[in-house]
Amino acid sequence: MIPDEIKTDRSTNPQGDPGTKTVFIKSYGCQMNVYDSQRMADTLAPAGYVETSSPDNADLVILNTCHIREKAAEKVYSEIGRLRVARDERRRAGGDMQIAVAGCVAQAEGEEILRRAPAVDLVVGPQTYHRLPDLIAKARSAKPVDTEFPIEDKFAVLPAPRREKTLARGPSAFVTVQEGCDKFCTFCVVPYTRGAETSRPVASIVAEVERLAGAGVREISLLGQNVNAYHGEGPDGRAWTLGELVHRLARIDPITRLRYTTSHPRDMDDSLIEAHRDLPALMPFLHLPVQSGSDRILDVMNRKHTSAEYLRLIEKIRHARPDMAFSSDFIVGFPGESDADFEATLRLIEEVSYVSAYSFKYSPRPGTPGAGMADQIDEEVKAERLARLQSLTEGQQKAFNHASIGRTMDVLFDRKGKHPGQIAGRSPYLQAVQVEADESLIGTVAPVEITTTGAWSLHGIVSGTTLREKVA
Ligand code: 5AD
Ligand code: SF4
Repeated sequence: MIPDEIKTDRSTNPQGDPGTKTVFIKSYGCQMNVYDSQRMADTLAPAGYVETSSPDNADLVILNTCHIREKAAEKVYSEIGRLRVARDERRRAGGDMQIAVAGCVAQAEGEEILRRAPAVDLVVGPQTYHRLPDLIAKARSAKPVDTEFPIEDKFAVLPAPRREKTLARGPSAFVTVQEGCDKFCTFCVVPYTRGAETSRPVASIVAEVERLAGAGVREISLLGQNVNAYHGEGPDGRAWTLGELVHRLARIDPITRLRYTTSHPRDMDDSLIEAHRDLPALMPFLHLPVQSGSDRILDVMNRKHTSAEYLRLIEKIRHARPDMAFSSDFIVGFPGESDADFEATLRLIEEVSYVSAYSFKYSPRPGTPGAGMADQIDEEVKAERLARLQSLTEGQQKAFNHASIGRTMDVLFDRKGKHPGQIAGRSPYLQAVQVEADESLIGTVAPVEITTTGAWSLHGIVSGTTLREKVA
């Protein structure tokens, strides 16, 4: 689920207008960081910052970091090294550049970042980035580190972006509805970096989605580390489930697509499964990580379910919505994973048949129970298991794509295509789809008959005349 380094959209001021300050934000890791990076840009806009597409001409560079695996965290330090060189060059030319580290590495390592990377001017955690304008001002005389879990709700104080900014970010938007996690899987740093589960109130989410819809957004992906544990306060004072929230959001016109990620199998309650049965806007695609197919490993991972329970759940969701397709995360080489445990994972994958999958070698994270477990697995064994698992899941993905030929699927067009005259979008299953069609279709959903598949995308032709109206 993790496109590794996503630079946030920057729609204005690519050259760096001398009258304004420029900020370059680089997101690592999950979609929640992409959302947070956009909100950081929103919070800096009233202070005169516009986004720029390169760190070289930026007055401020923010690295919005990920701590989930060791590699992700280490990348941040190499990037700071590169930025220090760019900053020194700018200083020699009479300019300057401030460097900020945000996100989960900031939360986990705090002051340690300043010791290890003295070029950094400020450190800000995921719960306090609404204070960025203040922190930037403070950073001129000291090096502030703000990794608090504050009492104020950042979502209540973050400024909304201007309408043009929302439009420039495209017809598909993320909205964080839940943060933190109480599950404590033994491999995972999230409960430590993002803290306990908290949910935004329904009214605040509805207002944000209405604003996005009004600016032309057609697809909302609700985000949370454990999104289906959502329990935000509803207008009636009760804690609402994610199923109830999705029902409410589906009434907002003209939102045509809803998604949510990432879910824990234990929190797929009946209201959410019913939402899949009842709401055409809720896409028939679910990222439902299982991590392993071995009950013994699931138990030591503290996943709180067996493989049979997971398979029964998949059945139940497919029963509610027969065209449902699934993706998952997998970890290979968790401490103590035997050949037989690994084979059980392959069997589960064969049974479910995923349309996409994200798989990782186990990476011991300091402070998590897994890191201290005996029977750590050799890197070579991990690599060999990862290659076998990926060849199986890639085969399933290819087969699914191939089976799409001849089908007509709704596609939300969100960008220009690879070649002139082409536009591109996403199917309900997040497959990339390219068609030859007019750019005016970008921002709309249209039925596409799939004709061929390429290495990473499908190709098709816009079919019929039932295009849904574009509002932008
Ligand atoms: N090692 C490897 N993969 C991990 N993930 C989380 N923690 C680790 C770790 N320590 C993977 C899980 C999770 C995804 C976001 O990252 O599969 O679902
Ligand atoms: Fe980490 Fe997800 Fe487990 Fe929470 S449920 S501890 S976020 S893997």
